[in-house]
Amino acid sequence: MNESMIGIPQLRIDGRLKVSGTAHYAADHPMPGLLYAYGVYSTIARGQIRTIDDAKALNMPGVVSVVHHLNCPKIHRTPATPMDMSQILNASKVDEFRTPFEDDRVAYPGQFVALVVAESFEQARAAAYQVSVDYEVAEPITSLTEGLKAQAAQNGAGGHSRGKPEPAFASAAQKIDVTYTTPVENHNPMEMHATTAWWEHGHLFVYESTQGVVNHRNVLANVFDLPPDRVEVRAPFIGSGFGSKLWPWPHSIAACVAAKITGRPVQLMLPRAQMFTTSGHRPQTSQRMRLATDSNGKLVSLRHESTNSTSTTDAYTETCASVTKSLYGCPNVMVSHKNVPVNRGTPTSMRAPGAAPGLFALESAIDEMALATGMDPLAFRLLNQAAKDESVDLPWSSNHLEEAMNVAAQKIGWQQRNPVVGSMRDGDEIIGFGMGACNWEASQVPTNARVILRADGTALAQCGLQDIGTGTYTVVAQTLSQLSGLALDRIEVQLGSSAYPPGAMSGGSWATSSVMPAIAGATRQALDTLRQIAVLKGAPFEGQKTENLEVEEGHLVCDGQRASFAEILDSQRVVHAEGNFQSGAAKTDIFSFRSFGAHFVEVRWDPGISRLRVARVVSAIDVGQVVNPLAARNQVEGAIVMGIGMALFEAGEYDPRSGLPTNNNYAEYLVPVHADQPDIDITLLDYPDLNFSEFGARGIGEIGITGLAAAIANAVYHATGIRIRDLPITLEKLMHGLA
Ligand code: MOS
Repeated sequence: MNESMIGIPQLRIDGRLKVSGTAHYAADHPMPGLLYAYGVYSTIARGQIRTIDDAKALNMPGVVSVVHHLNCPKIHRTPATPMDMSQILNASKVDEFRTPFEDDRVAYPGQFVALVVAESFEQARAAAYQVSVDYEVAEPITSLTEGLKAQAAQNGAGGHSRGKPEPAFASAAQKIDVTYTTPVENHNPMEMHATTAWWEHGHLFVYESTQGVVNHRNVLANVFDLPPDRVEVRAPFIGSGFGSKLWPWPHSIAACVAAKITGRPVQLMLPRAQMFTTSGHRPQTSQRMRLATDSNGKLVSLRHESTNSTSTTDAYTETCASVTKSLYGCPNVMVSHKNVPVNRGTPTSMRAPGAAPGLFALESAIDEMALATGMDPLAFRLLNQAAKDESVDLPWSSNHLEEAMNVAAQKIGWQQRNPVVGSMRDGDEIIGFGMGACNWEASQVPTNARVILRADGTALAQCGLQDIGTGTYTVVAQTLSQLSGLALDRIEVQLGSSAYPPGAMSGGSWATSSVMPAIAGATRQALDTLRQIAVLKGAPFEGQKTENLEVEEGHLVCDGQRASFAEILDSQRVVHAEGNFQSGAAKTDIFSFRSFGAHFVEVRWDPGISRLRVARVVSAIDVGQVVNPLAARNQVEGAIVMGIGMALFEAGEYDPRSGLPTNNNYAEYLVPVHADQPDIDITLLDYPDLNFSEFGARGIGEIGITGLAAAIANAVYHATGIRIRDLPITLEKLMHGLA
């Protein structure tokens, strides 16, 4: 028998490369003749380019080319493809459909208006500041509120209704009608967006920091009107993405254009400031919540209406209310999504898109509703659990929300909580306890993989999906090891190239769930090939039946006879046994697959010095089988820290006159630092969801951020009596509330 590799803590197989600086990221590819590109970015939020004068820049040392709308060669918009999960490998999705330098129109601040290409980065940057652009400035729409004044919101996807929520609300015993708002948030991955592009004999090659090499390849093929097999996108390492690197942004296309014009390789990295403008953000949201219960505290009506900001060029919907369809049992439900254009770049998915801001609203409103009924918030949630997924009328495949809530409640000491606001003190500090449920979808999408058992006794796995920093290399190696019995150090994993068998995006928490069945299938195929070789004339198992050959620790065995993979392949002078496999999508017609969890939070509020801190987070997470507890815990911890940022710090701000971002840097866009880290206690429930896949692993990247901002807001209320419905929970808002 092979020793189980799944569920056992494993150090990352790519860890050494990362800590030794030998993992090469998108801008780590020096090559002969490499040019550097630097963008000229719009300094207005809306208007038109009247004139663009590049004469001075072109005369500066080292400058090779300046690209803008007047001289940009013809490129094509990628067609809008519907997001059909079964067709995901053919997708060519972008969020911003305009191509760079398409025309003279400026739709948002930080839009590419020109690109300077030079022999050095410094020369390109210096010249970029000497490209003079004269704008016809128009009045920008600078916020969601302004957008709603300018025009009615347009309908977005993801609506749902059942029962009769209006009359049920009207006649209910208790009800609340409250609106929550959340600001723009930025992904802020450590590694900036970057592209290194070159053309060779009509082929386009790109190193890109992307969460999806296959989609990126498909997009570039469309934009440059090439067959997909003449484009190769590589992303062996990615310094995080959080959703900002799911779909290609204009910089990547711009770099490919520059490489084409100059006939040389071009590297373009977005400056940090443009990571806030032209590569997506989580949009502003306004969410009206109407909840009602009967006299026993059972939900009888639930409405969640969300409106988000989008750009004037593309309609992006933040599906905040999606979780509300199914998290709690309620016969009368209506959820809807609308969006309204403002003069900002196009928003995009950011870690747990929809659910992160949506559960801030829902789990805050549940707290408010529980208090309105006089119930304990935990008891209220337990009472209103959903026995099935009522939005699709299907049983849950695996739902351990109740256990998650009870385990975490027990650990934080919820039973000892005094429900009276401001009643729990420790010296100068007032302690507040709050909770929030976590929820995220579980998807498995088609993914191809190749596994090669080499004659030297090692194995190679190849898949065109990515490790965005989450531990996917190790998950792939664990899966191959589990089925072959080969030790991890005998396994090589190659990910992140569109030249490998096409794999899924690394997004939606579906990389692990999608790649494991693909690797398992390919490994089985390779082992079957090996068995056939093993019984050939002159091979160790000559004359045996292939079905009698068992796999054991890198050997085939039969009736006490044992031969290593290497010996078998050697006996036929075969260099390798190969397997290829495409995994499918999860069966969503029989079960509803989702992941669940609960956060319990202790905040400490020191009114004497107006200091608010998150002291403790206790979480229990139900994501099915945990594949690598080290990496899984790391994902949840990271998501919790990001959730603290969402709750207390993060907000993209814009000048209401000009529409320009005012805090597009790490100094003024606040994210949690080490001093903000609480004690974090995570329980991974670890119930394999075997209806989902043979491994039962649903994915863990996003769920940890959901529900946390609400848990913090609820704890802040418990400590202070101030209900903050507008993120982030700043000291100014608290002090204003107390005054
Ligand atoms: Mo995630 S927001 O799907 O990268």
